[in-house]
Amino acid sequence: MSPDNTPETDHTRMHSVSDETRRIVDQVLDYSRRRILSDDTPLDHAATAAELKRLAGVTISEDGIGASRALAVFEHVLAPACITTDHPQFLSFIPSAPSKAAVAFDLVVSASALYGGSWLEGAGVVHAENEVLTWLANEFGLPAGSGGVFVQGGTIGNLSALVAAREYARERLDDRDAPRGRWVIVCSAEAHSSIASAARVMDVDVVAVPVGADGVLRAPEVRAALEEHGDRVIAVVATTGSTNFGTVDDVAGIAALKQEFDFWLHIDGAYGLTAMLSPLTRELYAGVEAADSVIVDPHKWMFAPYDACALIYRDPETGRRAHTQHAEYLDTLTEAADWSPSDYAAQLTRRPRGLPLWFSLATYGATAYRESIGHAIQLARRIAEEIAKRPGLTLVRDPQLSVVVFERDGWERADYNRWSDRLLADQQAFVVPSSYNGRPNARFAIISPLTTFEQLSAILDTME
Ligand SMILES: Cc1ncc(COP(=O)(O)O)c(C=O)c1O
Repeated sequence: MSPDNTPETDHTRMHSVSDETRRIVDQVLDYSRRRILSDDTPLDHAATAAELKRLAGVTISEDGIGASRALAVFEHVLAPACITTDHPQFLSFIPSAPSKAAVAFDLVVSASALYGGSWLEGAGVVHAENEVLTWLANEFGLPAGSGGVFVQGGTIGNLSALVAAREYARERLDDRDAPRGRWVIVCSAEAHSSIASAARVMDVDVVAVPVGADGVLRAPEVRAALEEHGDRVIAVVATTGSTNFGTVDDVAGIAALKQEFDFWLHIDGAYGLTAMLSPLTRELYAGVEAADSVIVDPHKWMFAPYDACALIYRDPETGRRAHTQHAEYLDTLTEAADWSPSDYAAQLTRRPRGLPLWFSLATYGATAYRESIGHAIQLARRIAEEIAKRPGLTLVRDPQLSVVVFERDGWERADYNRWSDRLLADQQAFVVPSSYNGRPNARFAIISPLTTFEQLSAILDTME
């Protein structure tokens, strides 16, 4: 007992540098090293909650189970119950394929207890993140002075951009006394679900403009929406790489409408804006330079680990006005003229999640990125040609980027489900069924530079 009669505890045990903490760090780094450098991590698959409970046992207790046991539970029970999203044959949703440098550096970000919310606390890392954002803005043709912040993901990026767009609309209309109704966001009927999610959070309406069979949102339909909804339009969202098909909207045509209508143009490039970096597809992106805000997710096709979305404003001031939080204890930050990333999105505390991308870009250079992105585009084209040639398979759309959607003639949803389950059970590939206009289909989303034509052809063979 201590003099004041409280029980003696070693309250520094978790934080001090001791034999125990050294051992824990060694064990964790050893595991991380093995995982990062492994080239045969299986695809794995989910387990039921009951199985996990049985296999993992009780892990949270008053005295702790110790690092060795906790790490063993992670390595042998929990990790194998997670699908390996950076596996070359993970082809569902939007896969991840972080570069080795990016993953390794993510450890450094955690190890260094970096705070990325303000210049005062994190000037060095904010500088590095801004280097990346400025480089991206330049690639996208945005003017000098454009800037923003890395947020958690495309959903928060879209929400934050659209909140800034509403701020801009409010400021613009206050001068005019225009008639008001509910605010409206105009986007394609094939826009990502996160646009509707943002609208729900913001309590505004979505006008989902119908698109033709090629899925491209074009100026005439956007013009009609602008004419109908007038000043109530907060923003027009163009998608540069839809999630289902990788379809790129006609940004140049939509941007040209800015000459007649005053609207905020937001580019949802969470998945596909990356392909603007490749000379193979750059021409699809004409007009992006006119955007008021753009997003692109490094955790998708820019080879960064989860989770990061680059949000860039043409005029960052609008973003700052929309998002800066004011509180007495923050006065030191908000009264300074410094660039504080927290001011540019719906967030306050943030890790500098752009740093793994910064380190990877700095390490390998932009050309390596262009080439790895180009690999996926070329592979998508090649496997699409193969699909078109194979009897019994039909392409639903010609791929523009790295998503290939096709049907197996005569298959119902249940056939696709069985096929998909078998591929995973055999640990060959993770390809979940998708659908278009109510018709089930198969979809390859290609991201990893390690995915090969032979792997994809072998998957097609299983549909015979
Ligand atoms: C076009 C597009 N926008 C937004 C998102 C949402 O991104 P996140 O899942 O990072 O929130 C996605 C995700 O796939 C997407 O493909």
